[in-house]
Amino acid sequence: MEKYLNTPIKEVITRFPKVANILNEYNIGCVPCSVGSCLLKDIVEIHNLSIKEEQELMAKLAKIIYLGQSVAIPKLKRKMQSKSGELKYSPPIKKLVDEHTLIKRLIALIPEIIETVRTSPKIDKNLVLGVTDFIRSYADKFHHAKEEEILFKYFDANLDILKTMLQDHDTGRNHVKGTIKALEENDREAIAMHLNGYRELLTEHIKKEDEILYPWMDRNLSTTQVGELFSKFSGVDTTYGKEVPERCEKFVVGLEQKSAKR
Ligand SMILES: [Fe+2]
Ligand SMILES: [Fe+2]
Repeated sequence: MEKYLNTPIKEVITRFPKVANILNEYNIGCVPCSVGSCLLKDIVEIHNLSIKEEQELMAKLAKIIYLGQSVAIPKLKRKMQSKSGELKYSPPIKKLVDEHTLIKRLIALIPEIIETVRTSPKIDKNLVLGVTDFIRSYADKFHHAKEEEILFKYFDANLDILKTMLQDHDTGRNHVKGTIKALEENDREAIAMHLNGYRELLTEHIKKEDEILYPWMDRNLSTTQVGELFSKFSGVDTTYGKEVPERCEKFVVGLEQKSAKR
């Protein structure tokens, strides 16, 4: 079994097409996903299966792969134990939740950034422009593009919750414009007001998405749609490449290190 655990899922499905039916039974959307490079052993963790479900799934797969011969059913090592009560997300939605983590790390630094803007003898332009670059490049183009151009399109555009989310994205964009204008006018208080407005807005926005919108969407997406979404999100990641996420993460890490030294 070990050999197949370390094989990309698409290869396993190609060799043993019946595996697709078993994955569908567990709502694992690897069949419609065109990436298919996740290893079989990672699928269990990504999909947050319980130990009981994992063992059942492995037994069913072993039956197909080894044609009913008795094989030891491995217990997979998990990198992270899921805490009870923790929200479960499908793999594409989990990608968005993970992106929120970096945005939340930036948001956590905003009070200190505001303090620096207010008290330093001269406004640190690079600092403020670094923040607006992070918001535009990572939070808006990279992350919100996945929501607006891909995920939200699977749902009725007239839903109030979607309208609210899109409105929040627009309000966020206006705070960025406001910050840049205030920087040009050397207006420290207006910079502080817009950055703080963004912090408050995004804190609530991310909470609504993580706790309400995404779980609801996950419940309403079919297994096929989940697989498609994963492909489409991976396509966005490939198109953007590593430059934007790495540059933005480096910016946050730099600020965190400075903050820790204070
Ligand atoms: Fe959003
Ligand atoms: Fe989001």
